[in-house]
Amino acid sequence: MRRIVVAGNWKMFKTFQEMVSFCCKLAGYASEFEELPVTSIICPPFPYLHTSVEIFSATDVHIGSQDVSMHDFGAYTGEVSAPMLISMGIEYSLVGHSERRQYHQETDIEINLKVKILQSTGVVPIVCVGEKEQQRDEGKTDEVVTSQLETIFADIDIAADTNLIIAYEPVWAIGTGKTATPEMAQDVHKLIRDWLEIRYNKTIAERVSILYGGSIKPDNFAALLAQPDIDGGLIGGASLDIDNYLNLLQTGIKIAQEGK
Ligand code: 13P
Repeated sequence: MRRIVVAGNWKMFKTFQEMVSFCCKLAGYASEFEELPVTSIICPPFPYLHTSVEIFSATDVHIGSQDVSMHDFGAYTGEVSAPMLISMGIEYSLVGHSERRQYHQETDIEINLKVKILQSTGVVPIVCVGEKEQQRDEGKTDEVVTSQLETIFADIDIAADTNLIIAYEPVWAIGTGKTATPEMAQDVHKLIRDWLEIRYNKTIAERVSILYGGSIKPDNFAALLAQPDIDGGLIGGASLDIDNYLNLLQTGIKIAQEGK
């Protein structure tokens, strides 16, 4: 059984004080549970990683970074490496977010290198894929997502016990209020799971969590989670507000407890 994942990607939002306030409230909620029934992940900006790990240290909330360098150490000004992340207790890292692709010209080949370095270091990659609006309009969604997966995982071995998360984030749905319908998202999630089975095997396909991302809000999350291959959400805007994030977490918990 895959655990439901409720992951917040804060992008470049929040002051330090706002981060502390949010994290203390979430830690207060999470401390009511010995173990949360869902996986709660927050991806704050880099400078806040250490403090957020400290705030959640006695809770079952996990911290992820929003990106990682494709190098392990070296003279790469402004970069943050996977060994640095793991040494700070960071358990997850986004890679290949469409905003990295769009504004920093990140390619699938670079994303492949980042996944490899994360895996060798022990940080769980959250690999983002997804088509642009024009590509969907031209009926190329499956082709685009498959091509991204083929390049990103070209020479990557995945063992049966490997932890890996894939996030399907249609670019046209990010920050636009235009959510994919649960059925549209499910179709692509199924495509990704089928691809994993062909590329690796059924055990791995059944194990990998596939998250949907793109204008998730408290009022549309339950319908997305009800789909068989949607294992959680990667949430931008709605994860910035503590009440919204707790609402999303509670939706995940309810579905986890009731079963799909
Ligand atoms: P929004 O939820 O703001 O659309 O952002 C989605 C996203 O990019 C998460 O990584």
